[in-house]
Amino acid sequence: MAGGFRLRTVRKDDEEVCKRIWLIGIMEDLPRLWWKHNSRQPGFLLVCFILVFVGYYCESMLLGFAAALSWIYYIKMRAKWGNAFYVASRKDMDAISEIYRERFIVAESQATGEILGTACYQTFVENYTHWNGEKLPENCWELFSLSVKPAARRLGLGKLLLEEVEKRARIDGADLFFTASVCNHPATSFYTRNGYKVVLG
Ligand SMILES: CC(C)(COP(=O)(O)OP(=O)(O)OC[C@H]1O[C@@H](n2cnc3c(N)ncnc32)[C@H](O)[C@@H]1OP(=O)(O)O)[C@@H](O)C(=O)NCCC(=O)NCCS
Repeated sequence: MAGGFRLRTVRKDDEEVCKRIWLIGIMEDLPRLWWKHNSRQPGFLLVCFILVFVGYYCESMLLGFAAALSWIYYIKMRAKWGNAFYVASRKDMDAISEIYRERFIVAESQATGEILGTACYQTFVENYTHWNGEKLPENCWELFSLSVKPAARRLGLGKLLLEEVEKRARIDGADLFFTASVCNHPATSFYTRNGYKVVLG
């Protein structure tokens, strides 16, 4: 994708597009990455093996394979179902411009005006006071979401948005806190590339 990008505050008429970009991360990327991560875990493979073995032992390989397939389907769909509940609970994403105002930043193409990425932060940390046994700093902001449209990824948009949030936090003398799932390899790799260290919590 050619051309430059510019950042601005979200507007009311951007809300639908912004929510769609956010939803891709939650409902498409994360379940896929979660599945990729979990289907390689020894526990998952062991259960598959046990179910097939029980089928063999009971002289019903069909039942064994059916049970193993059900287990695979359950694991594959679990992240999707869990995330669907999470999405339904995020009423704030239906009123982005009212709730977040200048704290919801959009990155758009300078050439077309198309919104390609979004970042949103809060000037406090919502659910944590500590992380990995350590108290979070007093003045700490939370990067709430950072999402780039798949077709515009790896062009520096994530970095552009992150740097804007970092700049604002720095002006306020605040630290920045955020979490990402360990299975979200693109995100951990992105944050590491941008100078952050993974701290498991
Ligand atoms: C994580 C995310 C915001 C990165 O945005 P981006 O615009 O692609 O990031 P940038 O172009 O600024 O940085 C690219 C760098 O990040 C890392 N990276 C990004 N995607 C990657 C991937 N799929 N695999 C490995 N590394 C990746 C690499 O270091 C990459 O550098 P490279 O292209 O030279 O290898 C984007 O992948 C995304 O929106 N994901 C879905 C939502 C999400 O997971 N958000 C973060 C959770 S809080």
